[in-house]
Amino acid sequence: MKVHKHDAIIVGAGGAGLMAALYASKGGADVAVVSKLYPTRSHTGTAQGGIGAALGNLDEDKPIYHTYDTVKGGDYLTDQAAARILAENAVDAVIELEHMGLPFDRTSERRISQRRFGGHTRNFGQELVRRACHAADRTGHMILQTLYQQCIKNEVHFFDEFQVVDMIVVDGVCAGVIAIELGTGEFHIFHGKASFFATGGWGRCGAVTSNAHSLTGDGAAIALRRGVPLQDMEFFQFHPTGIYKMGILITEGVRGEGGVLINSAGERFMERYAPSAKDLASRDVVSRAIYLETREGRSIKNRGYMHLDVRPQTVNRYFAEEGRDRSDFIDEATVERKLPDILDFCRTYLGVDPVKEPMPVQPTAHYAMGGIPTNIEAQVITDAGGAVMPGLYAAGETACVSVHGANRLGTNSLVDLIVFGRRGGMHMAEFVKAADWAQLPANPEAEIRAEFERLRRSSGKSRPGELRAKMQATMMDNVGVFRTQETVQRGIDELAELRERFYQDIHIDDKAHVFNTDLMEAWELGALIDLADVTAQTAIERKESRGAHSREDFKARDDENWLVHSLIHHDGELANPAYRVSFDKAVDLSLWEAEKEQGLPEGEQKFRPVERVY
Ligand code: FUM
Repeated sequence: MKVHKHDAIIVGAGGAGLMAALYASKGGADVAVVSKLYPTRSHTGTAQGGIGAALGNLDEDKPIYHTYDTVKGGDYLTDQAAARILAENAVDAVIELEHMGLPFDRTSERRISQRRFGGHTRNFGQELVRRACHAADRTGHMILQTLYQQCIKNEVHFFDEFQVVDMIVVDGVCAGVIAIELGTGEFHIFHGKASFFATGGWGRCGAVTSNAHSLTGDGAAIALRRGVPLQDMEFFQFHPTGIYKMGILITEGVRGEGGVLINSAGERFMERYAPSAKDLASRDVVSRAIYLETREGRSIKNRGYMHLDVRPQTVNRYFAEEGRDRSDFIDEATVERKLPDILDFCRTYLGVDPVKEPMPVQPTAHYAMGGIPTNIEAQVITDAGGAVMPGLYAAGETACVSVHGANRLGTNSLVDLIVFGRRGGMHMAEFVKAADWAQLPANPEAEIRAEFERLRRSSGKSRPGELRAKMQATMMDNVGVFRTQETVQRGIDELAELRERFYQDIHIDDKAHVFNTDLMEAWELGALIDLADVTAQTAIERKESRGAHSREDFKARDDENWLVHSLIHHDGELANPAYRVSFDKAVDLSLWEAEKEQGLPEGEQKFRPVERVY
């Protein structure tokens, strides 16, 4: 058994992991990044439209407006102090990325270019603001390349294609993780004073998703099984514009550049649902509108998709109607320059040329607002009171700080991973200076090794691919954009059956050790089933509608009873888990509290939870 000893072990090499690695190493820690993918293949690379920061390069803007939008976008479940940190630090973060070499697009004055994105406004909702800093429509890709270079320069150790499958907890302290080297099938122990989960989301719980095949929520599932509760799991975001049936992301930047959603009647239907922000309302609002239009028989060809139209003649006609400045008008060259990847995807996968024809789009499972609960230093917390598990950190999509509340605004995921990855990395560097090495137990890998042997030797009748497809369909049908008690209960029952087949009747064909993707995907399916289950278990308990959690049997938001975070605990029994769901973690409303203390009348309080209007 190989044991690797490093001060700080970062699991995952996307934006949050690399930022944490960079800052922990700058702080003097000996850092190892353990990633199941080659780092630059991490999912941050698929983030397209931009990173939000109130630079004010094109429109007047301030971090406090960004904070307001983030709180409102999150339907007031957002922790307000965290939102403020996010918005204030975003400005430095973008400038720092630029100084590291990130090739942002430029304005004619050579400043960083910015575009509109859903829910981002100026002056507390007054009008849409250009806030998303972008490198064409490959912003995440550029962030990943930039940070990876910096980490190499800073002598971070990389263990590529090592998949973490368990963590080691000794007397309540995280002492490291256990990984499988994919190329050999061997187990390795990574013994650290601090470990940092930055493993991304679990969009693969959904049948139509923007998430890559690797987005299976490994870190969140491992933490859950090892006694860490997960927070706000009922809130899962559908991005309104995935390529029809495939789910591949079509960036909100398309609408930021003027693109519009059109139904089968040729109507720009978002004018009815969000008269002010229209196509750039927050994602939960737009995704629901698409479903409602579909129910009313107004999807294109009655097949559940809408048209996203960014043809210059369409965009310019609406711009003219809105009285926009002519300098905003676009031509084919603008679309080609600002949205090259989108054009490429549509031309390649659909044979559709977006400068000449509209794109067929439908909502796609995109982003988990919930996850491993952390404080603002990215330390993992284990109860409603904020008790920390020493040595364990998390940031990015796998974590819940909770800066996105019940619905994340576009561009804020990139800000989140840079800002909280950096804070976590800095905190970890200090932590490891003072911490002692925990004594590892004998054979810490025994339990997970036995689970892998069970899977490898399995000889049942259920193939992982079949169970995965059923789980994804169950989640889309029953715990998707709209939910009721009945649908979610059906989802829970179906997931229980799938779990039973996973533990009693699984069959994998490949019994080998070298790059055994059959085996690894089977294990990942177990993680996905856990995360789907806790999503459903919390969705059934929250009896209100808020952000991305839309209960048709409890249509209203209910601040009196439900302005509170959920925590779900797992008892560690993989085959037959018992859950405990609690709703006693308070939402941080500190900005609103400060407004009240200042004696501002209600009408002037910006952070008071009110009905959201876009
Ligand atoms: O639409 C997009 O470009 C996605 C961005 C995001 O999820 O933040």
